[in-house]
Amino acid sequence: MKKNLTRRKFLKAAGIAGAAVAMPLSLVEFSWGKNSQENFTLAYVSDSHLTHIKGGQFVRNFDMGLKKAVTEVNFMRPKPDFVVFGGDLAQLGKKAEIDHGLEIMSRLRYPVKWVVGEHDYYLDLGQYWSEKVSKLHYSFDHKGVHFVVLNSILTYDNWINRWKSPAERMHQMARLDNPQGSPFMVRDRQIEWMKKDLSGLSKDTPIVVMSHSPLYKIFKPWNFWTEDAEKVQAVLKPFSKVTVLHGHVHQILYNQIGNISFQAMMSTAWPWPYPVSYAQAGNAVPKLTVFMNRADPHSERDATGWSIINLDNGRVINDFKLWENTNRTLRYDDKLGYPVDTKYQNPADRIPPQEHY
Ligand SMILES: [Fe+2]
Ligand SMILES: [Fe+2]
Repeated sequence: MKKNLTRRKFLKAAGIAGAAVAMPLSLVEFSWGKNSQENFTLAYVSDSHLTHIKGGQFVRNFDMGLKKAVTEVNFMRPKPDFVVFGGDLAQLGKKAEIDHGLEIMSRLRYPVKWVVGEHDYYLDLGQYWSEKVSKLHYSFDHKGVHFVVLNSILTYDNWINRWKSPAERMHQMARLDNPQGSPFMVRDRQIEWMKKDLSGLSKDTPIVVMSHSPLYKIFKPWNFWTEDAEKVQAVLKPFSKVTVLHGHVHQILYNQIGNISFQAMMSTAWPWPYPVSYAQAGNAVPKLTVFMNRADPHSERDATGWSIINLDNGRVINDFKLWENTNRTLRYDDKLGYPVDTKYQNPADRIPPQEHY
């Protein structure tokens, strides 16, 4: 009895008592067609931004976001086949931050596929990440789905070589609204690799591309932007079932460009606002997107969350589970040919604003 009570207390303290605890991660379930025997689930965790203070000290809030995600992934049912980390593990690319992130992520019971973010990269141009974490771009097949992982946060050589020190370069790229920053790119060499990688596949193979930045252009001053996105989209154009999953924007954001559906994943650290509600400069926040509410600054975990994504016949159905708001469902509409937020696409049905800020 005593043992049971102790265990219950532990579960409560760890925030995992009860099955319906909202998670700051995205649970992605793929089910390829009604007759598929190969359905599977994966977990997607992104943008933890672990921030080193000094010695063994890190910003607690960001640590706790990632730790919570790791704990909850380990309790996920159905179990994920693997976990994707969507980039920005670190805040300023420091070895201490990457090591700290690896230590927290090592508690996962599942293998991890890693996507590199700009916060992981611009201190040493991906050297430590390549040595300790993962290749920067690669592909793999899993149960009939072809996954392509891109390093989408490259940029122009003349910008990279402009700075007095690696730390200065990292600081310049780390800021959201910095006119000294530089747009993200996949660059021709990687695009050529991708072309070859996809060349042997039949055109109806479901393809999931995972990048850190969105592979389209939303708002340049904040680098919600990939400079050569159109070139990447052109390589994907012949395929009938293409989904791009990306991090970086820290918010629910979705789009359809030609044959490609785009889904953004939330952050375990903090939400960004939508540029359309904030900035004067022109932006291209997708018309399809129904925004999340502005985050409540009184709530540490607001506007982070998780989602369940089903892909039926290669098309996405995304059940977003928001921490302190009504859940959302986004599904591909075959007749319209783009994703629709089934309840909230109608302005009359949208989530009422929160009552206190
Ligand atoms: Fe981020
Ligand atoms: Fe980022």
